[in-house]
Amino acid sequence: MSERALIVGAGLAGLFLALKLAPRRVTVLSQAPLGQASSSAWAQGGLAAALAPGDNPALHADDTVNAGAGLVDPAIAALIANEGPARVVDLVALGVPFDRTPDGALAQSLEAAHSRPRVVRVSGDLAGKAIMDALIAATRAAPHIEVIENARARALLQDGNGRVRGVLCDDGATFVADETILATGGVGGLYAVTTNPIEAMGQGFAMAARSGALIADAEFVQFHPTAIDIGRDPAPLATEALRGEGAHIVNGKGEAFVPDLAARDVVARAIHIERQAGRGAFLDAREAVGSKFPTHFPTVFAACMSAGIDPRLQPIPIAPAAHYHMGGIATDVWGRSSLAGLSAVGECASTGAHGANRLASNSLLEAVVFAHRIAARLRDDAPQSYLAPQPAAAPPTLPDSPRAELRQLMDANASVVREHAGLAHALDRVAALCDAHGRANALVAAHLILTAALARTESRGAHFRSDYPNGLPPQRTFIAGTALAPAAA
Ligand code: SIN
Repeated sequence: MSERALIVGAGLAGLFLALKLAPRRVTVLSQAPLGQASSSAWAQGGLAAALAPGDNPALHADDTVNAGAGLVDPAIAALIANEGPARVVDLVALGVPFDRTPDGALAQSLEAAHSRPRVVRVSGDLAGKAIMDALIAATRAAPHIEVIENARARALLQDGNGRVRGVLCDDGATFVADETILATGGVGGLYAVTTNPIEAMGQGFAMAARSGALIADAEFVQFHPTAIDIGRDPAPLATEALRGEGAHIVNGKGEAFVPDLAARDVVARAIHIERQAGRGAFLDAREAVGSKFPTHFPTVFAACMSAGIDPRLQPIPIAPAAHYHMGGIATDVWGRSSLAGLSAVGECASTGAHGANRLASNSLLEAVVFAHRIAARLRDDAPQSYLAPQPAAAPPTLPDSPRAELRQLMDANASVVREHAGLAHALDRVAALCDAHGRANALVAAHLILTAALARTESRGAHFRSDYPNGLPPQRTFIAGTALAPAAA
């Protein structure tokens, strides 16, 4: 039996992996009490898997490739589509109460750019919470898992051969491991308007890059088109499943300006432009959902009502918000990064499944498929010969004021529509913040995104350059993290 494994992150990817690793002993570091500060619990729509009659994994893989604007790896799309149905069975076995049709089959909803209804859900918009509740209960009962709460990893530990050997945390504690898996989530918190917990500031992504891991497609940040625009930080979501049910996107005059079920990048851009033009943007679900709101979309209903908007009677004000990072730590089909001893899973990884624009509800799917694959590999791995880790330099934490500036900078210059001058300005400011405050992980993550966005002189998927509106031949970017991160101060 191999030595202890260390998972950094306790969202869906981290906990599903921890459970699958049994009987291998594993420590899970959670930056907050379990279930808090994880984007997974906020997922509304659900998990995409081809389970219905008339659907099949090949159709799901085709939709995934088509949504991804030329950059999805077709082999990875096929892999997640093929393995998805078995992972749904795993989640059912863990007690996830997916919605059922009257005849007992799993209910599947339609979301944008899917050619079939294929998203399994819970009580309409509670999939993430229900899945996380089931995983947390199973984790707490699992004797092979040790959970350490409020442990915030800051840097990777490496031995003299460069093999990753665990992490250093904010409070100076070190966790040494034979295998380290980053499951740290995304980068939404780098933006002023996000649907993610604002703690999601690309920590794992930056830590891996600083240690030299290969980074892929850092520039591709997905904006969810229909965050609810009620001045909250983070912004509550109005799930895409509402449009699957027939809700319409309209401007302030009630006019349609984009096909409701177009790909997410297209809809986000159209809404951004409509709002910039002062015409406003709304999701009108009065007819499609109406009186069913409280029971069919309880999370969206509660968010709207708390802001004095009754979605049964009024259109919901919407705006795009940073939602998901398609780029991240480059990983192979078994979840391995380019650094020995380091794997990555979930949003912090870039497997090639999402390309330049992720298909709705493929994020939870990718997380469980790759968690399962990493577990299968690590359960069987022979123990590595052990070298003690070398001391790691602790990067600083970012004080509140530069953090607020960073979030505004990213929102203004690296969001739905980008151009050279804005990206270059933001990059200069991030470099200046690094000089003033040190190379905090959030600054390194922003630097990676901005550098890659400046370098991609074309428009593709979620990366739209108003100065380069056309596409070039499709090419993913793979760059050694240290080449993109700002040099040490
Ligand atoms: C949603 O429910 O609209 C979000 C689903 C996703 O991000 O895949």
